[in-house]
Amino acid sequence: MKPTFAKPDLSKAKTVVVGIYEGGSLTAAAKEVDTKAGGLISKAAKSGGFSGKKGQFSVVVPARGWDMIVLAGLGKGKDLIDLDMQNLGGAIVKTLNAKRVATASVAVEKWKECKLSEADIAANIAYGATLGAYRFDKYRTKEEDDKKPTLKELSLQTDDAAKAKTAYDRFEKIAEGVLFTRDLVSEPANVIHPESLAGECKKLTKLGVKVKILGESEMKKLGMGALLGVGQGSEFESQLVVMEWNGTKAAKGDKPLAFVGKGVCFDTGGISIKPSNNMEEMKWDMGGAGAVIGLMHALAARKAKANVVGVVGLVENMPSGTAQRPGDVVTSMSGQTIEVINTDAEGRLVLADALWYTQDRFKPKFIVDLATLTGAIITALAGVRAGLFSNDDQLAERLFKAGEAVAEPVWRFPLGDEYDKMINCDIADVRNVGDGSGAGSITAAQFLQRFVNDTPWAHLDIAGVAWSKKDKDITPKGGTGYGVRLLERLVAEYYEK
Ligand code: BES
Ligand code: MN
Ligand code: ZN
Repeated sequence: MKPTFAKPDLSKAKTVVVGIYEGGSLTAAAKEVDTKAGGLISKAAKSGGFSGKKGQFSVVVPARGWDMIVLAGLGKGKDLIDLDMQNLGGAIVKTLNAKRVATASVAVEKWKECKLSEADIAANIAYGATLGAYRFDKYRTKEEDDKKPTLKELSLQTDDAAKAKTAYDRFEKIAEGVLFTRDLVSEPANVIHPESLAGECKKLTKLGVKVKILGESEMKKLGMGALLGVGQGSEFESQLVVMEWNGTKAAKGDKPLAFVGKGVCFDTGGISIKPSNNMEEMKWDMGGAGAVIGLMHALAARKAKANVVGVVGLVENMPSGTAQRPGDVVTSMSGQTIEVINTDAEGRLVLADALWYTQDRFKPKFIVDLATLTGAIITALAGVRAGLFSNDDQLAERLFKAGEAVAEPVWRFPLGDEYDKMINCDIADVRNVGDGSGAGSITAAQFLQRFVNDTPWAHLDIAGVAWSKKDKDITPKGGTGYGVRLLERLVAEYYEK
């Protein structure tokens, strides 16, 4: 499904979607349809439990001249923001699919009192439709046709079609990044493993991203004992992928923005093995890396005026005769030694070397890492917000604001000496789990902080938000692509020239 934009002509479409304000008053397009359909719409706009509230739909079928007229509740015009229009777009797609519609037009106009321009209303509806129409169905070979989505064409009718198209072009690039992430996260671990995921990164070359892949021998030379220890039980070779997007001529002293992702392509827990219940979910333990890859895709596709580096540590955490044991001591690239108390606390080991490498090689302006790091963050925040940990108030504040703006919200947690102490170790510099007194997400973040010097840094624990069991308007259940829209907004809002 690809949205298109056209000048208003409701007679052209067999199925039309028109807006109704809360309370049942009609938009101009709804009035036009109402006149031709002999008053059907004004009646429907106040019946059957429909009252024009945000998120409500009513379907009139068949109606004179049209196969179907869909009434979309807009709510109160003055409160509507871009996110509402995106949700509306996603909900329209769902409604049309449920009604087995293949082609439809949405009548867009400047909703009364709404602060968005008509072009922005149309572009945001289209953006939401694109995000909401996503489905990971490549492995369903026997799905009956009458269960498959029907919608092929959604035309946004607006007087500002050209402007809307231009605004949508940018959204479309971001959406491509989000969908790329969702695909990667949804793929099973026999398909997306460290080597094939590195191959997916390589594909960004065609967008102008410079991609460098380090294998195990290179990482060994760099001393990345923490990352390599996690992958040593796997048949797949661990990889560190460095993606660079240079969207502006760097002036002297210009530092790149850096994003680092946890890419555990499958997390069995290793020798500290996980229970088998729900272990299949651990295919999406590369959600942080997936988000970084999708972000690079989005930024490069829309030619962001910023210099950005994305680094992902790709490993598979397996138990085997060559796997690392609880109690093993590894030496990280930073020189710090780590006692691996629990082989299931592997993400932080991967990030320890990826963070150090990124800081050491790029001297970035800041580093934001994303990781499905702890089950404890799900206990704290469920799937509602990602956990935010940072050594820099400005960066934290900006991430918070970007999260609110794109509905990928975060919530900040504390860091501090009292928590840092909990990962002190008797036989090495640090241990990879806390001392049992709790705060599992914070001690994980404290561990990461030991591998960051003075660089402004933020860690997003996305274990609760990378995957969703519930359908939402613009995020169907499954891989959410969380982080792409958040970080794209962070870059656009604060760091582009
Ligand atoms: N990948 C998991 C965290 C996770 C759990 C992500 C559930 C998504 C859903 C991580 O590697 C892990 O196993 N963390 C342990 C740490 C513990 C051993 C200190 C956890 O959270 O239980
Ligand atoms: Mn684990
Ligand atoms: Zn993990």
